[in-house]
Amino acid sequence: MGKATSNLRKEHDVILQVLNILDRMVSTNDKKDSVKLQYYNELVYFLKIFADKCHHGKEENYLFAELVKHGMPNEGGPVGVMLGEHEQGREYIAQMSKSLESKDFTEFNDAAIDYRDLLINHINKENNILFVMADKMLDEAQQDELFEKFEQHEEIVIGHGVHEELHAMMQRWSEEFLVY
Ligand SMILES: [Fe+2]
Ligand SMILES: [Fe+2]
Repeated sequence: MGKATSNLRKEHDVILQVLNILDRMVSTNDKKDSVKLQYYNELVYFLKIFADKCHHGKEENYLFAELVKHGMPNEGGPVGVMLGEHEQGREYIAQMSKSLESKDFTEFNDAAIDYRDLLINHINKENNILFVMADKMLDEAQQDELFEKFEQHEEIVIGHGVHEELHAMMQRWSEEFLVY
């Protein structure tokens, strides 16, 4: 397994952990609306910054672009499907955001569950199909080069301070929602 794809796989594990917490959040009935609102807002912030900007950004700007350069078709085929799913995910996140503005928890839960289902399926496809293909197409030097670009991307879109903040959030959620 190459350095770049294994970095993305590790991020998948973090995203899956957050989706697990999201499950607990939406199925818990013993929290006040103001408390729920705070956690849901934090969760949406996390998904926007970490899952979309950082992780999907690495895939779209660097990995997928590199695979296309190596002959994988841009439209249709696995890259096209993955791009379409990232777009769909953004729509669900936008719905989640909007429903929080109007404090519509039912709408939030629906969008959150759609997002969770989409992402779990999406991550499985990447881990088991696309990244396996990428590991065959790209040699070690190409994976190392991609990893360097990932690090620069992460520094630009997240940076040290926000990284710590996201980590602290996950810690608090885990304690609050008993996910260990
Ligand atoms: Fe993806
Ligand atoms: Fe991914």
